[in-house]
Amino acid sequence: MADSNKRPDSMERITTEAQAQAFIDEQIALIREQVKDSKVLLALSGGVDSSVVAALLIKAIGQNLVCVHVNHGLLRKGEPEMVCKVFRDEMNANLIYVDAVDRFLGLLEGVTDPEQKRHIIGEEFIKVFAEEASKLQGIRYLGQGTIYPDILESEQGIKAHHNVGGLPPELNFELVEPVKLLYKDEVRVVGKALGLPDGMVFRQPFPGPGLGVRCPGAITRDRLEAVRESDAILREEFEKAGLAGKVWQYFTVVPDFKSTGIKDGKRAFEWMCIVRAINTVDVVECTVEPIDYDLMCHITDRITHEVPGINRVLYDYTPKPTGTVEFE
Ligand code: XMP
Repeated sequence: MADSNKRPDSMERITTEAQAQAFIDEQIALIREQVKDSKVLLALSGGVDSSVVAALLIKAIGQNLVCVHVNHGLLRKGEPEMVCKVFRDEMNANLIYVDAVDRFLGLLEGVTDPEQKRHIIGEEFIKVFAEEASKLQGIRYLGQGTIYPDILESEQGIKAHHNVGGLPPELNFELVEPVKLLYKDEVRVVGKALGLPDGMVFRQPFPGPGLGVRCPGAITRDRLEAVRESDAILREEFEKAGLAGKVWQYFTVVPDFKSTGIKDGKRAFEWMCIVRAINTVDVVECTVEPIDYDLMCHITDRITHEVPGINRVLYDYTPKPTGTVEFE
C-alpha cells in the first residue's frame, strides 16, 4: 500500500486557483468518505493551516465540524475577534469560543523561567481543549493542520510532528489531515481559493505561546497590554509601508526593565519597547530587515505616545545566530 504520508512524485505543485479548486473538490470528497456523518473537532487558532483545514471541513461537512478557539490571553490584538467574524459570522461555522484568559494569566503569574512559561501554556491549552471535547457527544475525529514540512521534519527528527501535542489518549481520536501533503505556499493558494481573507492567508508566523514569549520574565497584565498595543501599531505601520507581505516576521518585545524619560515635562520611569523584524528562508538563520529611518522614527513616535508605560523604542540589529527570533 502507498504510504499516505508520502507526497507522490506525480503531484503537481499547486500554484493556480484552478489547481487549488481541483484540490478542494478532491479533498471534500475524501473527507466525506472518511467521516461520513460523524463529527470532527478542530482546534482553530486562526493560523493559516488550521484556518484552511477549518474552511475545507466546513465545505465538506458543515455543522458536523466543531471548531474550538481558545483565547489564552496571549493572542495579538483583534485576533479572537477575527476568528469569530470569519468563521462564525461569515462561514456559519459551529464555533466554540473559550475565554480562558484569566485561567492562563493566573497560572503564569510570577513565573519567570521561559521554558516553564512555555510548558504551562502548552499543558493548559491541552487541558482546556480536552475539557471542551469531553463536553461534546459522539466526536470520533480530530481535524489537524499538519502540513508536509511537519511530516518531513518529524521523519528527520528535527521536531515532533503534532499540532495538538500529546492530547490525552483516552480522547482516542482518528485524524483528519486534509493538507498534510501540501507545502506552506500551496496551503496559502488553497486558502485564497476558499475565500479566506488575506490577513489570515498571508499571516506571518506566530508562536504557539504567543505574546507570552514577547513579555520576557513574569507576565503582568499591564506589560502584556503594552506588548499587544505596540505590536498592533508596528503591524499597522508595516502594512501601510507595504512591508507586511515582504518581511518574514516582525513584532515587539517589552522587557521587564525601566529607564528614565520625560513625558509632558515630567519624569517618566517606564519600559522600553524593542522592535524586531527579520528575514529568512528556513528560520535556521535570519538577517535583520534594514528598516527605513523615517519609518522607524514614525513607529517610535506612535508607540511612545500611544502605548501607556513605554518611553523608549529600540531596534534589534541582531541576526540569528547569535540571537534567536524570539526573546524567550
Ligand atoms: P526562534 O526563536 O527559535 O524561532 O529562533 C524560530 C521560529 O519559531 C517560532 N517559535 C515558536 N513557534 N512555539 C511555536 O509554535 C514556540 O514555542 C516557538 N518558539 C519560537 C518563532 O516565532 C520563529 O518563527
